[in-house]
Amino acid sequence: MNPQKIYILGIESSCDDTSAAILCNGKVLSNVVASQKIHEQYGGVVPELASRAHQQNIVLVIDQAIKQANIEKKDITAIAFTSGPGLMGSLLVGTSFAKSLSLALDIPLIDVNHMQAHILAHFIEEDEFDKPEFPFLAMTISGGHTQIVKVTDYFDMEIIGETIDDAVGEAFDKSGKILGLPYPGGPLIDKYAQIGNPKAFPFPKPKVGELNFSFSGLKTAVLYFIQKKVKENPNFIEENRNDICASLQYTIINILIDKLKKASKESGIKRIAIGGGVSANSGIRKALKDGEQKYGWKTFVPKFEYTTDNAAMIAIVGHLKYLNKDFTDMNVVAKARMKF
Ligand code: KG4
Ligand code: ZN
Repeated sequence: MNPQKIYILGIESSCDDTSAAILCNGKVLSNVVASQKIHEQYGGVVPELASRAHQQNIVLVIDQAIKQANIEKKDITAIAFTSGPGLMGSLLVGTSFAKSLSLALDIPLIDVNHMQAHILAHFIEEDEFDKPEFPFLAMTISGGHTQIVKVTDYFDMEIIGETIDDAVGEAFDKSGKILGLPYPGGPLIDKYAQIGNPKAFPFPKPKVGELNFSFSGLKTAVLYFIQKKVKENPNFIEENRNDICASLQYTIINILIDKLKKASKESGIKRIAIGGGVSANSGIRKALKDGEQKYGWKTFVPKFEYTTDNAAMIAIVGHLKYLNKDFTDMNVVAKARMKF
């Protein structure tokens, strides 16, 4: 085999997506994601059911990833897996599998921080996508996190702002639940928002200091607003769904962009990247692009399939760590909470 070729198997199982990917020298050969539908009926991820589903999916998903990449198990150079943060039971499935496979194949094992991976997804080799130069600001917006991170180098990251309560994805999903939408509400709110009036209903913006965020008040405001309106008119949600979604999304985007403006001004950094599931949102993507004209930003938005949880982003971190010979060993354990 050509020694110049580094094949990394990435494994992601931190929440409710079981994913495996093969990268060759940083280029994606396969990226298989099995999303767990089971949680839809519960209005949120049920941890116990998530770990069981990972157990059922993991062998199949890894097998598919290897097949689609057109390689064999013996070609894999190293295995990268998410060791945290995330749901403990879910993380354990990927961690145990990765450890066993690395032992069986006798190849290096690399542990990956999920939040770092959302940021480093920008370094996946893609012909039509620019990579951000250092330093840049990364806003990670997902179902579990909302952070602004100053990225000085691949593995030199500093959190300069974060949510003090709910994550932005939770604001979307919990509001979606109030509106009677299935879980996760985020993508559906995005869809309805595109044909609604963003100025129809004013929702309050939180007053939270520095570069931090707060989204729990917004969710409560949506709840009280809907309860009041439905009392007056039981069909209020159906009759105004697009406008409610557009107004809510408009408020959330303003909250995010305001803090990015502040972070950019204070740090003097105009290169801005986003990552995490919520960066799939069409409104935030547009608002960020508009920032290029308005504030002189250079913005970086990941390819759609690398925004929500996926193993390609885990594998690119694996690739970068492999180049540094930064390996872990059999003593590695999954961690529900984790800093950079
Ligand atoms: O990164 P991710 O897949 O998982 C976590 O690490 O949390 O993010 C999932 C979150 C969910 O809250 C989902 O509603 C949200 O990303 N999301 C969206 C969109 N697509 C996914 N939120 C708003 N608009 C979207 N288009
Ligand atoms: Zn994530």
